[in-house]
This record gives sequence, structure tokens and C-alpha cells, in this order.
Amino acid sequence: MVKPIISPSILASDFANLGCNCQKVVDTGDVEWLHLDVMDGHFVPNISFGAPIISALRKQFPKTGDKPIIFDCHMMVSDPEKWIEDIAKAGGDSYTFHFEATKDPNSIIDLIKKHGLKAAMGIKPSTPIEEVYPYADKLDMVLVMTVEPGFGGQKFMADMMPKVEKLRAKYPHLDIEVDGGLGKDTIQPAADAGANVIVAGTSVFKPEDPKEVTSFLKSTVEKAIESRSK
Ligand code: DX5
Ligand code: ZN
Repeated sequence: MVKPIISPSILASDFANLGCNCQKVVDTGDVEWLHLDVMDGHFVPNISFGAPIISALRKQFPKTGDKPIIFDCHMMVSDPEKWIEDIAKAGGDSYTFHFEATKDPNSIIDLIKKHGLKAAMGIKPSTPIEEVYPYADKLDMVLVMTVEPGFGGQKFMADMMPKVEKLRAKYPHLDIEVDGGLGKDTIQPAADAGANVIVAGTSVFKPEDPKEVTSFLKSTVEKAIESRSK
């Protein structure tokens, strides 16, 4: 059975206080992952940050200890093969490349695994879910974007949910991540469709009390998983 996972996107944090902001969401006790949005200004029309920031953040959340925070690296970059080594060295755990950014997903997946990272593939809103099927057995996770990648704070696209439903029906044990516009108002359809990894930027980093949001998101996903297993 899949687990409910909340992966707050640091894109919505105050970068001048990145460490404290992340600590605050981790201290909710609901957060086991951090979602790190790397953008190159080419695959998407925005630049965010890269491996140096990830490695700085890793110093605050070391891989040692009984429950290290998983660094979920969402690579919105052209030529995704270029950055695998850097992200591995910086302390990433999972590397999500975009299907649209490569002609050869198989060799990217192999290279990611060779570097000891979990391999995930993301699809933009215009990409049909069927494109994922040939690779799903090799992947640790599939990311179904629920906004156009590039910016935080956009509106959740509920019309992506049939893609999640189809994928969940075929792969009951796969981690399925949704990213973009997720919060208390939009979590229910995502959880019902079968997503178990929830990226949330604005909804988690902006409020004074993140715990209220993270626990709501997590329990909604948990209940949906339970009701599917009956
Ligand atoms: C968008 C990024 C998202 C974004 C989500 O390109 O991939 O991870 O930060 O932010 P919210 O939750 O604010 O939509
Ligand atoms: Zn993302």
C-alpha cells in the first residue's frame, strides 16, 4: 500500500530565511519530504536555484539520523542528464526529470539509478498519461503536473485528475505525485483520484501555522488510501 506523503515546495518560502522556513514545516511532524524546484530558464520561463542551495539545505537536514528528510528534486530543466551527478553530490534523494525534456527516458532513468537516486518522471498538463506507461515499471514515482511548470501560486487544474485515476488503476503501488495549486480546497479530488505524494508550496509556506494545513492534507490522503484498500 502506498503512504501519504506531503512534500512542501520551498519555492514558496522566503529564500532569505530558507533554513528557518523549512524547519518550521518539518516541525509540523507531517512532513517527511521537501520538494526542491530546480528551474533553468530554458525548459521553463523562470530561474530558481540549483545544486549549491540544495547542498546548503542538506547541511541543515543531514542524511544521518533515524528519519532523514527526503529531498525530492523536481528538475524543470532541458538536458536533464547534465545535472544528475551534481544533484546526487548535493544530497538529493529523488530526481524527477520531465518526459518532455528528453528523447531517451530509459537512459536518463538508468543514469539516475546509477547515481543512487530514486528515479521519477514528470509530465506537463498537455502530455497524455499513456506516455508514462512504457517506463512506469522502472520508475519510483510519476509526477502529474497540475499547473504549467515554472511558477508557484497557480490555480489547480482539476482536469488533470483523470490522468491520475488512470495511472492509479494500472499501478496500485506506485508513488503518484501531484504538483501545483494543492491546498485544503483542492486536496480532495487529488486524493480521490489516487495521488499519494502531495506537493504544496503556497498553501504550506504562506500561513502562520503550517501544521493546520499539513495535517489536513495528510489525513485527507490517508483516508482516500484506506477507502481504496477496502
Ligand atoms: C511549479 C512547481 C511547483 C510549485 C508549487 O512549477 O513545480 O512545485 O512550487 O507551488 P504551489 O503549491 O504554490 O502551486
Ligand atoms: Zn515542483
